[in-house]
Amino acid sequence: MRHLLSTKGLDRDDAIRLLDVAEDMADVQGREVKKLPTLRGKTVVNLFFEDSTRTRISFEAAAKRLSADVINFSAKGSSVSKGESLKDTAQTLAAMGADAVVVRHPASGAPHTLASSGWIDAGIINAGDGTHEHPTQALLDAFTIRRRLHGAGSRGRDLDGVTVTIVGDILHSRVARSNVWLLDTLGARIRLVAPPTLLPVDVSGWPAEVGFDLDEAIDAGSPDVVMMLRIQAERMNAAFFPNSREYARRWGLDDERLARLRPDSIVMHPGPMNRGLEISAAAADSPQSTVREQVANGVSVRMAALYLLLSGDREDS
Ligand code: CP
Repeated sequence: MRHLLSTKGLDRDDAIRLLDVAEDMADVQGREVKKLPTLRGKTVVNLFFEDSTRTRISFEAAAKRLSADVINFSAKGSSVSKGESLKDTAQTLAAMGADAVVVRHPASGAPHTLASSGWIDAGIINAGDGTHEHPTQALLDAFTIRRRLHGAGSRGRDLDGVTVTIVGDILHSRVARSNVWLLDTLGARIRLVAPPTLLPVDVSGWPAEVGFDLDEAIDAGSPDVVMMLRIQAERMNAAFFPNSREYARRWGLDDERLARLRPDSIVMHPGPMNRGLEISAAAADSPQSTVREQVANGVSVRMAALYLLLSGDREDS
């Protein structure tokens, strides 16, 4: 694998391979000696033009557990604030010998630009670009679902027939897009539930059923997985409709809806959560919630991504 830019471009075999390598990495993390020498001498740059807690820290932890050197770059406080371009930033990183660049950027397509530009000869991992994709989030979500439903160590398995309901701000969600493509590739059945104003115009072309009624989706659909999405207020204008109170009442996973889920349904959220808006505190902290597992699994999945990018043959993908 030369770059990891999207899940839309990931075929089933590559996706399963990534999840299986993540299982190997999870095994390593369960041992007393958690660190592998695999990427000694390699340099991973975390290039973040947008804020992040989980993704940036887990990529740093993943790279360090594989013994790579890590450089953290945040646009805030860098020469980007003086107007330096993505090209000049990339060429600066190339001059410092970056082998992999993990990039988060507010512009959809920025990681693809880096990967195809020739400005830098490094493996590029998309850590979230605009409203486009967030492939490692979807991979860690799929890994979490596979572990919960099929058990740890379920190598080689896909998610055939698993029903996943994704709820909320689909319009602005790169997490939703990456999940839809990956879950479809892995055989899951996907339903999207959102207010009409928070659905993208091209959603009819996605491999998913679309509905507007969360109660109907919970009662009639009885999903294996309910994935709640964050309301991305920072990407909306002041005319956000519905308002917060109405949103929580109609599309929030509150205590009453949590109680109506099957006891073996799992509740996911990529974080950061707006507690009391898209998810109640009881739902976020319930035994059905995988929120913390998702964060822990993120390190294993990102170790797998870095390993596959940097340790072997870097064929195009
Ligand atoms: N899920 C996610 O991408 O979280 P961060 O924005 O904290 O990285």
